[in-house]
Amino acid sequence: MINEAYKAMLGGKSVIRELSEYATARGKEIGYDNVFDYSLGNPSVPAPPDFARTMVDLYTNGDPVAIHGYSPSLGIPSVKEAIADSLNRRFGTAYTGNHIFPTTGAAGALAHAMRAVTKPGDEIITFAPFFPEYMPYVNGTGAHLTVIPADTANFQINFEAFEAALNPNVQAVLINTPNNPSGAVYSAETLTKLAALLTAKQTEYGHDIFLISDEPYREIVFDGNTQPYPANFYANTLTCYSWSKSLSLPGERIGYVAVNPAATDADLLEPIMGQISRGTGHNCPPSSIQLGVAKVLDETSDLSVYETNMNLLYDALTSIGFDVVRPGGTFYIFPKALEEDATAFCLKAKEYDLILVPSESFGVPGYFRMAYCIDTEKVKRSIPALEKFAHEQYGL
Ligand SMILES: Cc1ncc(COP(=O)(O)O)c(C=O)c1O
Repeated sequence: MINEAYKAMLGGKSVIRELSEYATARGKEIGYDNVFDYSLGNPSVPAPPDFARTMVDLYTNGDPVAIHGYSPSLGIPSVKEAIADSLNRRFGTAYTGNHIFPTTGAAGALAHAMRAVTKPGDEIITFAPFFPEYMPYVNGTGAHLTVIPADTANFQINFEAFEAALNPNVQAVLINTPNNPSGAVYSAETLTKLAALLTAKQTEYGHDIFLISDEPYREIVFDGNTQPYPANFYANTLTCYSWSKSLSLPGERIGYVAVNPAATDADLLEPIMGQISRGTGHNCPPSSIQLGVAKVLDETSDLSVYETNMNLLYDALTSIGFDVVRPGGTFYIFPKALEEDATAFCLKAKEYDLILVPSESFGVPGYFRMAYCIDTEKVKRSIPALEKFAHEQYGL
């Protein structure tokens, strides 16, 4: 008999994927150039040439048995050490290779981190707006996801609501900064306050509360700023990362969990994640890709186009009359819709070939997300369509 729980999920497919499929189909009718597809967070800039050179060199001159062979189940030691060194250089941390667990992207990292520190029936707290896939990620572990309402003034943490929701069943708190979909970059002040609250609650409840910090957009930060490193604020932090966005490698499925050496049972968490892999059939990411990224750890793609696009859109949206918080990073912007029903708003936008994602699945009603990882030239061409849409439908 098929599994009824998964069957039920078929009715709740990703809105983002469905919109992206619509945009592709519409592109076949009118030419994809004419569809202002702001649906999907797929990087629009190529991986750095050094990555291709490294892979060509590996395939040409490397030992094929090693390159295509099984990775050790906890990852390739030299790769793990290189990742630890790179983090230590950049963030002043004290990781060793044994604190790094390579995974298939940030999704794989989150799957391991959540299972390592929660059991079915436990509660994980996250903050709206949040990446919609958190719901199936958490449901798949048997834990329960509690969503704290957004602080729409700046999309930092709504501490009042958070404190009210905390209870002894909470074993983990899941943050995402820089944030998809709001573009907010959690400040040092936010992270300090979060750490103080979690530390106090750990003492009050008499058990650990782990912070799972999802950071695939860590390097996409604007105005010359950087993302403060959450693990430096709170000992019990599991950092989940991927090179999907910073190196434009989402299809290669490569990331890691970094276990803060100061965390409780830090030395056990990486081997425990190895056991989680055995149970889920995850295994390690491909050996070749582990070896490849290890050579370009301190590089990124040319990410500047995202800041250019953000500025163009932010200026256009505010001058049209949208209410919008300026993103500090990522390649998303999250304006308020021009009517309460964001789905109805986005449906109307489709008539102008503007593909916008309604905010309900991000845990906030009445907003929409634009993923501006597209050509700048297309962003510019979309502005008259945005103006026409807002004018004709809402009189702006
Ligand atoms: C906030 C967030 N977390 C996790 C992921 C999953 O990342 P990956 O593709 O590296 O698995 C994404 C992908 O878009 C994301 O936006």
